[in-house]
Amino acid sequence: MITRPLFGQNAASNKLNVLLIGVWGRGLAHYDSISEENVVALCDVNEARFPDALKRFPNATTYVDWRKALDHKGLDAVVICTTDHTHAFIANWALKRNLHVYCEKPLAITVNEARTVRATWETKKGKLATQVGMQRHAQPNFNRVKELIRDGAIGELKAAYAWGNRQIARPGYFPEEGTPPKGFHYDLWLGPAPFHPYNPAYFSGGAGANCLSWNMFWDFGAGQIGDMGSHTMDLLWNAVDAKLPTSADAKGEAMNSDVTPVNCESHFEHPANDWRGPITISWYQGGAMPRSPRPSIDLTKIGHGAMFKGTKGFLIADFDSRMIIPFGDDADMSYYKPRKKEDMIPDLGHFQKQWFDACRDPSKPTACDFGYSSYMIEQMLLGLVAYRVGKKIKYDGATGTSPDTPEANVFMTKEYSKGWNIDG
Ligand SMILES: NC(=O)c1ccc[n+]([C@@H]2O[C@H](COP(=O)([O-])OP(=O)(O)OC[C@H]3O[C@@H](n4cnc5c(N)ncnc54)[C@H](O)[C@@H]3O)[C@@H](O)[C@H]2O)c1
Repeated sequence: MITRPLFGQNAASNKLNVLLIGVWGRGLAHYDSISEENVVALCDVNEARFPDALKRFPNATTYVDWRKALDHKGLDAVVICTTDHTHAFIANWALKRNLHVYCEKPLAITVNEARTVRATWETKKGKLATQVGMQRHAQPNFNRVKELIRDGAIGELKAAYAWGNRQIARPGYFPEEGTPPKGFHYDLWLGPAPFHPYNPAYFSGGAGANCLSWNMFWDFGAGQIGDMGSHTMDLLWNAVDAKLPTSADAKGEAMNSDVTPVNCESHFEHPANDWRGPITISWYQGGAMPRSPRPSIDLTKIGHGAMFKGTKGFLIADFDSRMIIPFGDDADMSYYKPRKKEDMIPDLGHFQKQWFDACRDPSKPTACDFGYSSYMIEQMLLGLVAYRVGKKIKYDGATGTSPDTPEANVFMTKEYSKGWNIDG
């Protein structure tokens, strides 16, 4: 007699056993897609979030510590919607437990965290499905931009720029105030972060926007890079086909040891690949902006955008539209042949479902897997390293170190609270 498990990816039902970590805020945006699977476990450091979550997923076991939740028996997949400073830890632990992982952006808040997750992912790729929550990637415009760049609509690609204009300035960590409400495990919220006293201001935002209460502090996030910057750089990254830069340079407002910069720009040199020559990539945030190609075009009207410079013109894009500006006397577009409809990159469909499909068949691709996404965030985080040392640094992508600026290496990683290990 053949017995079949009732649940899990090998079950007759073919439903996956899912753990959701961070059940409120961004977690709510995942309820519809995970409810098509078996949600067997829920984890949140705030027990007050469980009653509502259990109304939707009544059969789930609840946990307050993600380390214990990951050992829930029979798990197939985990969705991570916690604070940025826990993402690389949970993602790495989950991969090591052979779980499929969907991790909200950003995948990491230091260069080393990005590299650690990628190293584990390299050993699991093809067997486990991964996706970083850059769901705007599913907008068809992302691939239309990519096709135009690849097909030579602006000639040979030379440089690419992305920017975001969100500005949330804070003077420093909030001072000690009040005590955590009953059932809120502040020690677990801090997790691997060094201790900072409780203050309700870290938890004052609405659902899905509370990250704007903590993501600018060095110990809890990476500022704009982990916030809208991840989405906007994704628009650029999808088109340029880059991995790691050979140098990083950055400048911005004065360094604050508590808070990541609001105003900052970083520049990276990337080597040639098989379809283009070397390029530079730049990231601008908090009011810093690339120079517009024409005085009549006001780039500041695009809050989060990308621009590509080629030998024959510019392409400017936001998340759902694009424009081409042929530039120079011979920029007559005769060199550009639009793709036939049937040769266009197919839409990826529903972003979360693309991941669930790959969980069932990990040979299927996901658009923002931990390879693509870890290279992207490593580059951006390297910009913060250059900002902190205050000069242009060389980067050796093989070792994750700066050969000419050893003082930069200390900023590739960060201090963690005792007892927390990313490689657990
Ligand atoms: N993809 C997007 O468009 C998008 C949009 C908003 C937020 N996000 C990302 O989602 C994440 C969460 O943002 P948010 O605004 O929902 O934050 P939040 O502070 O509201 O936290 C979400 C939930 O996670 C819980 N939580 C926090 N740390 C935890 C931990 N260590 N273990 C278990 N539960 C924990 C909180 O109690 C809360 O219920 C962030 O990383 C943010 O970047 C992504």
